[in-house]
Amino acid sequence: MADRNADRASGGGASLTASLTIDGERVPFAPGETILQVARRAGAWIPTLCYDPRLEPAGACRTCLVEIDGWRRLAPACATPAAADMVVTTRSDRIARHHKTLLSLYMTDHVADRDACETGAPCELHALADRVGAATDWPRMEPVRAGRPDDRNAFIEFRPDRCILCARCTRYCAEVEAVSAITLAGRGSHTTITTADAASLVDTTCEMCGGCIDTCPTGAMTEKIPLREHAPPDRLLDKVRTTCNYCGVGCQLDLNVDRAAHGGRGRVVKVTSPPPGTPPNDGNLCVKGRFAYQFIEHPDRLTRPLVRDAGGSLRETSWEDALARAAAGLRGVADRHGADALGFVSSSRCTMEENYLMQKLARAVFGTNNVHQCAAT
Ligand code: SF4
Ligand code: SF4
Ligand code: FES
Repeated sequence: MADRNADRASGGGASLTASLTIDGERVPFAPGETILQVARRAGAWIPTLCYDPRLEPAGACRTCLVEIDGWRRLAPACATPAAADMVVTTRSDRIARHHKTLLSLYMTDHVADRDACETGAPCELHALADRVGAATDWPRMEPVRAGRPDDRNAFIEFRPDRCILCARCTRYCAEVEAVSAITLAGRGSHTTITTADAASLVDTTCEMCGGCIDTCPTGAMTEKIPLREHAPPDRLLDKVRTTCNYCGVGCQLDLNVDRAAHGGRGRVVKVTSPPPGTPPNDGNLCVKGRFAYQFIEHPDRLTRPLVRDAGGSLRETSWEDALARAAAGLRGVADRHGADALGFVSSSRCTMEENYLMQKLARAVFGTNNVHQCAAT
């Protein structure tokens, strides 16, 4: 955990007490930082696949290998602590050969066509393979990893043909969510991501946070709803950053909007989390923030003010009329029975400013302290 915090600090807060050399440049670092953290702060390009700054380094994918003077083998930058006076090389013919060979191997049992692979989130493996010029003509191996086709959970789909066994999902589940609902199982090319007894996620300790989807670099863990609805891939969606309105934490999230849907009115296709490091939620979301967005299009949702007519039936009206009717009703109760006959109940789904205005309305306008909000209990 100390390492990850040092990553976030990146020179801001942690004291940079020693230095090493990266690609000929002298770079200071703080105790506990890895070569990757120091190199990225210095602007060096080191590709990664199994690295997530929220997780302890695993050194699993071997994408981030660098040369260190005096070391016979290439070393994983994500899992190697920086040391004083180390001399690190991130760009060389040897490293370029390594990138090309490694990513060509990864691609041999990965969905070959990039568009077919990226039906949802972008695939970091495809992006890296393109960037380093990985071979596309190597003999293919059909993936034999087992999926969980009968998992009846409503939200999360595992697509084994896209999995590269980086274990970001299982580590996220254990280290961030602390529930260990999913695990690596099997041997060799049959190794896969599964649950105890291959049970549905709803029969495990899974909290449906969707963090395994968020951290997955290839879209192997993905959302079921956009798949079922044949939503456009992420690259065709607009991301609109907003604040979750389910509770008072104020998590940041991105609405993924298909602008062309509904005759140009647009439609929220899914919710994703901003990158790790984005406060206050560091790229994490709960089940409500990530998956409970379909109320936006629900036909029962109230989108216009309603008032009761003389017969007691609800009918649409203007905001002016609705507010005037509410004000007259509240004032009438206060006049007849006194202000303490009124009670004002607000919601943690409102903003802080709206809650402030509600108590102001109760106290300053009507003169009662009968005001409450659900987050207060
Ligand atoms: S949704 Fe959250 S709790 Fe469930 S398997 Fe994924 S990371 Fe673990
Ligand atoms: S499902 Fe995704 S995050 Fe999990 S091991 Fe496979 S590629 Fe990595
Ligand atoms: S990112 Fe370093 S080994 Fe995977």
